[in-house]
Amino acid sequence: MATNKGLSLVSRDDEGVDTAFRADVLTGLKQSQKAIPARWLYDDAGSQLFEDITQLPEYYPTRAETEILRDHGDEFAAMIGPDRAVVEFGSGSSVKTPLLLSAIAPSAYVPLDISGDFLRAAAQELSAKFPGLPVYPVEADFMRRVQLPGEVADAPKLGFFPGSTIGNMVARTAVDLLQTMRETLGEGSHLLIGMDLIKDEEVLVAAYDDAAGVTAEFNLNLMRRINRELGGDLPVDSLQHEARWNDDFARIEMHLVAQNDFSFSVAGQNFAMREGETIHTENSHKFDRRTGNMLLLASGWEPRARWLDGAGRFSLILAEAAQPKSAP
Ligand code: TRP
Repeated sequence: MATNKGLSLVSRDDEGVDTAFRADVLTGLKQSQKAIPARWLYDDAGSQLFEDITQLPEYYPTRAETEILRDHGDEFAAMIGPDRAVVEFGSGSSVKTPLLLSAIAPSAYVPLDISGDFLRAAAQELSAKFPGLPVYPVEADFMRRVQLPGEVADAPKLGFFPGSTIGNMVARTAVDLLQTMRETLGEGSHLLIGMDLIKDEEVLVAAYDDAAGVTAEFNLNLMRRINRELGGDLPVDSLQHEARWNDDFARIEMHLVAQNDFSFSVAGQNFAMREGETIHTENSHKFDRRTGNMLLLASGWEPRARWLDGAGRFSLILAEAAQPKSAP
């Protein structure tokens, strides 16, 4: 089997341009509703800005999920049992992962991430905190089926997918991913997944449009990245960040709204925007008990337990990859 150890998973052309980034941006800008896949928000500057977002007073999800992990460790331990290999989809955050690991006495920790640098940093930090725990980092795109290290082949697995990252996907992509996770982890595995809850529109919009303008900066950083990496001349000052609630789809959408008519080019191709037209850069779907359960069931996961923070803003769900049963 080919491995990518030590190599980047990014493919670049002769000029050093990330070819997937260019293809995604050009395709998205040609649509009638301009849109750019949210994963491109996370270059180095974007990842730092996102760290800052998690500290904002308006951005409650990180604190709410951390509270759940801190307060219900005994219940996780009772339901999950010891000696599981914990497979985290995305690099472990310095706060949430240790709370889970110290609650459940796992046999190994397997962080998966597409960014080798983040992965190695997270793995090192974790090893330092849990000296006896074997850590097996895997550099991989978790949207695809992953071959787990042989060392954990026989251990029962617990997938960990915090941060309501599942909400950043549209339903069909979310189902694809949850099904792929089930294949990666195997039958009988458990999944602990964070889902942010539907709540008052003002609270939701504020979480994605903070007073200090950090989320706006995060969104606009994508335009700066396009200009820098793809030779663009998007007029960043003519675009304004907007977070809006789409009630039909139960999601917050981040857009960049053109403040006037203008034309621009990216990678040698010409585009134009009218005043009021937008570039859609992110979705963050919100769930209630039923829609969360439905998403899991549609992907082969049976919900077993659900915890909320004290203020009822965020949910953490434990599901099991159960054998298909005969059903009416
Ligand atoms: N998944 C989290 C959420 O939707 C984190 C996140 C992703 C986020 N993209 C974001 C937060 C953009 C703020 C802005 O909330």
